[in-house]
Amino acid sequence: ELVYLNGDYLPLTEAKVSVLDRGFLFGDGVYEVIPAYGGKLFRLEDHIVRLNNSLAGIRLTVPHGVADWQAIFQPLLSAGKDQYIYLQITRGYAPTRDHGFPETVVPTVFAMCSEIKPFPGKSAGIKAITLDDTRWQLCNIKAITLLANILLRQQALDRDCAEAILVKNGYVIEGAASNLFAVIDGELITPPKSNEILPGITRDVILELASADGIPCREDIIALEGLQTAEEVWVASSTREILAVVELDGKPIGTGKPGPVWQRLDDLLQTYKK
Ligand code: PDD
Repeated sequence: ELVYLNGDYLPLTEAKVSVLDRGFLFGDGVYEVIPAYGGKLFRLEDHIVRLNNSLAGIRLTVPHGVADWQAIFQPLLSAGKDQYIYLQITRGYAPTRDHGFPETVVPTVFAMCSEIKPFPGKSAGIKAITLDDTRWQLCNIKAITLLANILLRQQALDRDCAEAILVKNGYVIEGAASNLFAVIDGELITPPKSNEILPGITRDVILELASADGIPCREDIIALEGLQTAEEVWVASSTREILAVVELDGKPIGTGKPGPVWQRLDDLLQTYKK
């Protein structure tokens, strides 16, 4: 199993990075998770646009275009599987630990490929809890610094829930590692893009598929009470696709089963992926 590190393809066990890498010492880097279905990268251009926004957000430049990235990822993919590329770029090695940027920066670029496994219990839906959003104010940057996200996700797991839905000033924002959708009065609603959420590619795809299918949808803020009384609630991400939330904080959402709009969008997504 080969991985990509700074221009080379190596076995995973031989890929090594200095302990002085700023990714290790400071979490000073960004990442992407790019699905590939049957060996073909899904919405690569969109992922690279988001990557470049994340890089700009941390004042880092990497001189690769979409075609360069495509060429870097292709040898990591195998044809018959659903996989994803994990790409991580850090500000690289610096000779001493100092918060300020080093004078010369050679970013560390790492990519590996993993299998996307069908989410267990997808057809039954998942349980979720709501938690205060303890993250920072630049959530639109896909930063590798994920301490708040992992603590939030683990609190959900500790309570036998698959996701934590984050609340800020009485409004639901997104999941610890997913975007959020609700069906309210027959309308599909997702919070608007801002510095408070990661602009998910799956989110964009869902909005496109729903509009094309004539499902009323819009980007709007969602109050916590609105979510609790919604007909349907979903979370969406590249690795878990669309999951219906059937129980929130121990109480059923809608009928307590994945709803018809979720079923329709999941069908549309499965077709679109191919
Ligand atoms: N996370 N919001 C957050 C905070 C996320 O971490 C993610 C994805 C999303 C969904 O984005 P997308 O549809 O582009 O995957 C939203 C990835 C999968 C991860 O951290 O592994």
